[in-house]
Amino acid sequence: MSTALVILAAGKGTRMNSDIPKVLHPIAQVPMLVHAMRAGSALAPERTVIVTGHGAEAVAKVAQTEDEDARIVVQDQQLGTAHAVAQARAALDGFTGDVVVLYGDTPFLQPDTLERMIAARADNDLVILGFEAADPARYGRLVMKGDALERIVEFKDASDEERAITFCNSGLLACDASTLFDLIDAVENDNASGEYYLTDVVEIARDRGLQVTAVSCDEAQTLGVNSRADLAAADAVFQARARAELLDLGVTLMAPETVFLAADTVIGRDTVIEPNVVFGPGVTVESGATIRAFSHLEGCHVSRGAVVGPYARLRPGAELAENTRIGNFVEIKNAEIAEGAKVNHLSYIGDASVGAGTNIGAGTITCNYDGVMKHRTVIGENVFVGSNTMLVAPVTVGSGAMTATGTIVTRDVEPDALAVGRAKQENKAGYARKLFEMLKAKKARRDKGA
Ligand code: UD1
Ligand code: MG
Repeated sequence: MSTALVILAAGKGTRMNSDIPKVLHPIAQVPMLVHAMRAGSALAPERTVIVTGHGAEAVAKVAQTEDEDARIVVQDQQLGTAHAVAQARAALDGFTGDVVVLYGDTPFLQPDTLERMIAARADNDLVILGFEAADPARYGRLVMKGDALERIVEFKDASDEERAITFCNSGLLACDASTLFDLIDAVENDNASGEYYLTDVVEIARDRGLQVTAVSCDEAQTLGVNSRADLAAADAVFQARARAELLDLGVTLMAPETVFLAADTVIGRDTVIEPNVVFGPGVTVESGATIRAFSHLEGCHVSRGAVVGPYARLRPGAELAENTRIGNFVEIKNAEIAEGAKVNHLSYIGDASVGAGTNIGAGTITCNYDGVMKHRTVIGENVFVGSNTMLVAPVTVGSGAMTATGTIVTRDVEPDALAVGRAKQENKAGYARKLFEMLKAKKARRDKGA
């Protein structure tokens, strides 16, 4: 049976107090919407439809970066969840199979929960995902009769007796596409909010003699994010889970609570992560590497045996081969550092390649930007780059070459050559003493005058 995903993401998220659409706020550096899309991808959906509204263009862009085939529909007015799903009808034209509806602000959904919903479809026409709520608050209540779901009543419309129910609606459902749209056609908005409630499809389905049930999952999976406090709490939940997974995989985290991971961070066994390390998106660290304290990594790849930091910054496109050394106050961007190469102190290596065994001296800078364009620096193998060398790109330094300390390299350096580009030093005998005396006398005159 093929499935299609419909992800509702039109809401404004008023309580976020933000110019950014709610579903684009990140958890573990990834927008909530992308978490929802990744959860949904467990079903290998034939089509994915994102219902946008507030900030539609920005939401569409993020959705299509994650999945270029995602279909975007716009709900101009937020008239309710049933109205939102109805907007997906045209985008699902010609699709036969199950539609799974989920929310863009529910980032913790686990793949097996979706699979259980699809499995429950075998004996039911409509499947709702419910959860036992510790505090049912304003959730819709699931009114069950045995295994059958009779109806969902929204908090605003519920009687006291119904409000006492703790089995609540997560908002997710699974239903055959044509059945779902038939049911939605019958939904009206004569309720306390004047909205077209998706939840009304349950009672309509029952009236038509269809089988409806609810599958249950733990509450943590259905946690929605509605405020900055929820966002911070959701991130904390994610971090705790991700750290625990790494520890299980054999990664040493010296102070786990100080290491911040992105949703896609990959770290190999026996790698050691010292305290206060932050991982942005797109980082892979292989086994047996060491990431020392206070380092910041994003969009990079660190190979076996490499040592990074303390206080290192690896930016997108940093590619470190085995046994490389990146030391304190070093920034690497869009650069390949080949096996055994060292950049140990106070350097910027950007848009460059550094050959195996090369040593980059303290304070070296690849001057990669001329104010308009970026240029590459190519450094060969076993090069010795002297401290405080400025490499004015585009420039190539051949293998086995050396640059003298303080050299400004503006022309290519042939292999095995020594590049020296600095003013010649002259020592003037006795001058320092004279200069000191002159300056001291000057100060004495000034102090007297004051
Ligand atoms: C909804 C459910 C409620 C459930 C709760 C779980 C209905 C009527 N109620 O209530 O039973 O317990 O979620 O969190 O479905 N959206 C649109 N367009 C709209 C309206 C909403 O895209 O016109 C989107 C929102 O952006 C959000 C989702 O649908 O992602 C849910 O909408 P929301 O207003 O939060 O519904 P609740 O009142 O929380
Ligand atoms: Mg809600």
